[in-house]
Order: sequence, then structure tokens, then C-alpha cells
Amino acid sequence: MTTVLDVQRFKDEGRRFAMLTAYDYLSARILDESGIPILLVGDSLGMVMLGYPNTLPVTLDEMFHHARAVARGSRQALLVGDMPFMSYHVSTEQAIESAGRFMQEGRMHAVKLEGGGRVIEITRRLTEMGIPVMGHLGLTPQFVHQMGGFRVQGKSEAQADRILADATALEEAGAFSLVLEGVPSTLAGRVTTALHIPTIGIGAGPQTDGQVLVFHDFLGITSGKAPKFVKRYANLADDISRAAQQFADDVRKGTFPGPEHEYSANPAQREAVP
Ligand code: KIV
Repeated sequence: MTTVLDVQRFKDEGRRFAMLTAYDYLSARILDESGIPILLVGDSLGMVMLGYPNTLPVTLDEMFHHARAVARGSRQALLVGDMPFMSYHVSTEQAIESAGRFMQEGRMHAVKLEGGGRVIEITRRLTEMGIPVMGHLGLTPQFVHQMGGFRVQGKSEAQADRILADATALEEAGAFSLVLEGVPSTLAGRVTTALHIPTIGIGAGPQTDGQVLVFHDFLGITSGKAPKFVKRYANLADDISRAAQQFADDVRKGTFPGPEHEYSANPAQREAVP
């Protein structure tokens, strides 16, 4: 099984690695068997699985529901649970309780928290208690209203210096890795060089140690124009739509089900389902 020590070794040995989000049993199983070393049960599930406009409405219980399904499907991957909005904001004690529940009830191996500032002290406390923490800086979706929308962060020198300082402080507090989202490639390169722990980029250019994509984005299930940083490795939205139309057509024409799909009434012919 991939551990946080393996993830550190990837960086030490200069091996780039992939992380993908996962939200359910079967897709987690496929990704795990494909050798993806880290699966993130992201709070992006609020948008791609539950249809919320952003990640803010997602609750811990919704996260646990999906986390347990992913854990049932996965054998090898390091499983990271994304702490949702307001599950670590009230106090350090609340953060410890939420993260502990993520490991006990959600069966995750680590948690991810967005932001610097007070999150640095929370990271220190969680790490001290044996709860591995993945940091997340740059475009942090839980700050959408403070950022005035989903905007690239770290473009000004002051912002870039802040992100670099937070990254260094998170590493010092014990974070085992750091997601850098929606920042200029040059800044991601600076942070990656400065840190000993691995960085994992999304919309952060090619210089990070790892890359992460959202499941629905990389498979082309999301509709409309994908953000610039997304590479679609399949076009499943089109495939699903074509298959649905074909199915409806077959039913209308009476060509499905065919003889090969029928059960016989002959008692001597024992048939199992499936
Ligand atoms: O929630 C999520 O999917 C994430 C990734 C985009 C890093 O935080």
C-alpha cells in the first residue's frame, strides 16, 4: 500500500506522480487497480456528484458517505479525505475531532485542509496525533467568496511571497505534501524547489512533483468548456449520451432485449443471475 513515506520517496527520487479524485466504490477500484498511488475524496464531490454551485454546502457526513465507498474499492492507494468547509474552522479541537472521524468513520489515511494562517497550527496538532496532513494553497475553493470567484492566485509579488511563506510554514508544521491550485507556473516552481515535501499541482504548471485532476474533468464527463488546466483523457459525456440515445432507440424499435438477453422457461436449464 502507498504510504506517506512512499510519497516523500517519490520526491526524493525525482519521480513525478499522479493523484486523482474518487467518490465511489467502482471508480475507486478501477483507479486503484490502474496504479494511481493517491486517491483524494475531494469536497469537489459537492459540485460534480451533488450539483452544488460550489464546495461550501458539503457536510462531513456527505464526505464520510463517499469516503467509505472509496475505501471499500481501494486496496493500494493512499486515501486522502478533504476536510469540508466549517469542519475545522471553529477551533483546533473541532479540527481534531473532524479529522479523527475522517480516519475512523471515513477510513481515510490522511486529511487535506485548505489555507495557511491558523491551519498551520492545526496541521501541527494533527500531525502530532498521527493524522497525516496534505496542505492546499493558492486557489482554495472554500475561500471562493473572499477571492471574488475562482481566480488564479499569487500573481502579485506580495501574494506569491505569502503563498511561499505559508507553504514553508505548513512543511515545518509537519504536512506531508502540498496541493498548489491555480497559481502561475513560476510560483509553483519556486515553492516546489523550496520545499522538501512533494507539491501536487492543479492549474499550477509542470514544475510540481505531482499532478491531480478531478475524476469528471479528466474523463470528460463535465459539460461545457473545461478550464484551461484540464486535459480530457476521454470524452465520456459524449459516449454516455450516444449510448443512452441508442438504448432508447433500441427499446422503441423492439430490438432490445434480443434472444440472447432472455431467460428460458425450461426448469432443466438452471440459470444464475447474473
Ligand atoms: O476537492 C478537490 O477535488 C480538490 C482537488 C481539486 C485538489 O481539492
